[in-house]
Amino acid sequence: MAQRYYIVGNWKMNGMRTALPEARAIDRAAQRLPKVEVAVAPPVTLIAAMREAVENIGIGAQTCHSAEKGAHTGDLSAAMLRESGVEFVIVGHSERRADHGETDAMVKARAEAVQAAGMGVIVCVGESEAQRDAGEAEQVVARQLAASLPGSADRLSVAYEPVWAIGTGRVPSIEDIAAMHKRLRSALAQAYGEAGAAVRILYGGSVNGNNAADLLSVAEVGGALVGGASLTADAFVPILAAAA
Ligand code: G3P
Repeated sequence: MAQRYYIVGNWKMNGMRTALPEARAIDRAAQRLPKVEVAVAPPVTLIAAMREAVENIGIGAQTCHSAEKGAHTGDLSAAMLRESGVEFVIVGHSERRADHGETDAMVKARAEAVQAAGMGVIVCVGESEAQRDAGEAEQVVARQLAASLPGSADRLSVAYEPVWAIGTGRVPSIEDIAAMHKRLRSALAQAYGEAGAAVRILYGGSVNGNNAADLLSVAEVGGALVGGASLTADAFVPILAAAA
């Protein structure tokens, strides 16, 4: 693949200031691996400090509201996040969909707000275990994607994260990942025409230093969205090395 792999760490609700040395170590590794595009999405509370601490990695947020401002207690707008120092935002993560009732329509609106603020956006999709067992994974995910995608492919990435693979140590077979990513690629072509070819499709769910090389070798896998194994440099750097 000519494009650089995009490896993104999603720190979720993890990380106090004591985690900044990990970010610095990840940053130093990224400097040594210029063929890989590396980013971390820390909790909002760490964005400013991480901005000061790193030079070679992108910094993102894990969600945002679709409105520009207003009576939305506890929420943050895309422009606020941009001002705080991030270049991209993850939207529609399955934990947001499950814990906060984010619907496909909300995810689409959030993605469009992120783009309007001039940032990159990662739209997450993925099936449940019951849907996979019922043989419906591809249809479900393609439907979810079509309803969650923003109107433009500008600075867009998609992350395929099977819900049952997140934090469980279980990953789909290489064949299943290949089939899903192929399906997502054609859904992107349908949505955006030629522009859909430039959208990176990341795989997420129990990626680690041992399985990263195999997962990244699958056709149409343009990178990885990594949770638990992105929290320390010891765990994350081997994934970056596998992508180099
Ligand atoms: O967004 C990344 C994530 O949901 C995957 O988490 O811990 O399985 O790598 P993990």
